[in-house]
Amino acid sequence: MRKKVSKAIFPVAGLGTRFLPATKSVPKEIMTLVDRPLVQYAIDEARAAGIKEFIFVTSRGKSALEDYFDNAPQLEQQLRKAGKTELLDILKSTDMDSGEVAYLRQAKPMGLGHAVWCARRLIGNEPFAVVLPDDIIAAEKPCLAQMVEAFEETQGNIVAAMEVPEDKAQAYGVLDVKEDMGRIVSTKGLVEKPAPGEAPSNLAVIGRYILTPKVLQQLNKKRAGTGGEIQLTDAIDDARDDGEEVYGFRFEGQRYDCGSKAGYLQATVAFALARDDLRADLWAFLNEVVHAEKAAQ
Ligand code: UTP
Repeated sequence: MRKKVSKAIFPVAGLGTRFLPATKSVPKEIMTLVDRPLVQYAIDEARAAGIKEFIFVTSRGKSALEDYFDNAPQLEQQLRKAGKTELLDILKSTDMDSGEVAYLRQAKPMGLGHAVWCARRLIGNEPFAVVLPDDIIAAEKPCLAQMVEAFEETQGNIVAAMEVPEDKAQAYGVLDVKEDMGRIVSTKGLVEKPAPGEAPSNLAVIGRYILTPKVLQQLNKKRAGTGGEIQLTDAIDDARDDGEEVYGFRFEGQRYDCGSKAGYLQATVAFALARDDLRADLWAFLNEVVHAEKAAQ
């Protein structure tokens, strides 16, 4: 019987050190692209892919994230009273139903694989999605929905993959390609953060996955990998060694690495330029900046 993906894990327990000092008190996932926190984009993308249960793996200092998903009855009442129906609609569009969201704690930041493993009891014996909210993907059809469709065909593990320049591969998990079928590639290996010059391909894994429970079984072994962390890539590769299929999926869309400052700023500009209410002003400002920069050269 073909299995459906209805649960997603959002691992958000990392320290977010690249955004210190902001992340001393603001979880990275609450930082905004224009006026929506990163995590809202992740939720919207998962919902569009048919996800019904949203499982957050959090840590100390992430309470702002949990608060964000609470309803805000007082604020709603005030907006209603003031007749601000547009703002009210925006607010309501972020409501989560009771019981839809679960929060689990990762006691120590032992790696992405370990964070996913923390959710094992809520996943049970079903395929599940993993969404890293700091990878933002602008796409006509949301990336996870593209992957769920592919999973309906393959029923094997699927990782989102994109081409990266050779000198950037060492920052990612990289696919060892068995057969390249275009949008989908089958794999004969996955290497987390390969040493310079040793990447098996230019196809890097980014933060969207659809995985089978076999990966959780591998995570049970708690094998430490690169950086002493329990790596999700390693567990996926171990499941593959154990006979599971692992596919790379070339998604359609533009990915922004909002875990890095440069990526976050690029996303901010791109998302603001896509907004009717902001485009003209921002465009004028960017032109000024470019002209001033050129004049100074
Ligand atoms: P990153 O590698 O981006 O780490 O984690 P980070 O801690 O978020 O940020 P930096 O590198 O210190 O700036 C990738 C994803 O895995 C989660 C993070 O929250 C992020 O969504 N993660 C990582 C955990 O949930 N637990 C961990 O132990 C490590």
